[in-house]
Amino acid sequence: MNSDAERLEILELLKRVPLFAGAPDRALDIAAAAVRKRGYEAGVTMFQEGDKGEALYIIASGLVKLSKVDLGGHEKTLAILQCPEYFGEMALLGESTRSATAVTLSEVQAYLIFNDDFRKLIADYPAISLNLNATLAERLRGMDDESQVLSYKDAQGRVAYVLLKLYQGGVVEHEDERALVRLTHQELANLAGTSRETVTRALKALEVEGVIETHPKEVFITDPTGLDEILHGIR
Ligand code: CMP
Repeated sequence: MNSDAERLEILELLKRVPLFAGAPDRALDIAAAAVRKRGYEAGVTMFQEGDKGEALYIIASGLVKLSKVDLGGHEKTLAILQCPEYFGEMALLGESTRSATAVTLSEVQAYLIFNDDFRKLIADYPAISLNLNATLAERLRGMDDESQVLSYKDAQGRVAYVLLKLYQGGVVEHEDERALVRLTHQELANLAGTSRETVTRALKALEVEGVIETHPKEVFITDPTGLDEILHGIR
C-alpha cells in the first residue's frame, strides 16, 4: 500500500504521463492506488522479448532501451524512453508475449500497473483508451518514417536521423547550451541499424560538416538545423 505522501507524488507523475492526458481525477486516483514502484540498477533487463506480459511500466526516472534481435542476430534498438513515457502495453492488449526487450541504460524508477488494473482502467475510461491508441499510432508513424530512412538514406543520413530523434525526444543532456547524447557508437549503431565502424565514420563526416562534436561516448549536437538539412539532402 502506498502512503499518502507517495500517493501525491504518484498523482503528480501520472498527470504528466500521456496515457492519462484528459482523464478524470477519479481515474488518476484509481491508477495511483494500483501502481507498484520498482527500482532498477543500470544495465538490468526489465523483461525480455517473448516473456509473458504482466504489467505496464511508467518511467519515473532514468532511461530505458527497447530492442529486438533481428533475423541476422543483430540488436536493433526500437526506442529509448524516459519519464513520463510508458511502455509494455502491447503484450497486455493482445494477451501476447513481449514484442521487445527492455533494458535500463541508467538507474531507473518505474511504476507498474498490472494487467487486471490496466484492463479495468481502459474499459472504464475512454480518455485512457484513446490516449493508448494515440501512442500506438504515433509509434507506427515513427516506424514508417524510420523504415524510409533506413531503406533510402546513406550512413550519414541514418546517423543524422538517429541523433535528431534523440534530440527531439529529449534523450539528451544540456551542457553549455549544447545538447549532449551520452551513448556509445555501438548504441548509436543499434539505433541506426548499421555497424559501429560505419557509425564512427559517419560521425566524423558529420563533425567535418560542423553539425556535431564527438568525444568518446559523447556526441554534442551543435547545429540541429544543419543535421536536419543533411537528413533531407539539402546540404
Ligand atoms: P510490449 O510488447 O508489452 O513489450 C515491449 C514494449 O516495447 C511494447 O510493449 C511497447 O510498449 C514498446 N515498443 C515496441 N515497439 C516500440 C517502438 N517502435 N517504439 C517505442 N516503443 C515500442
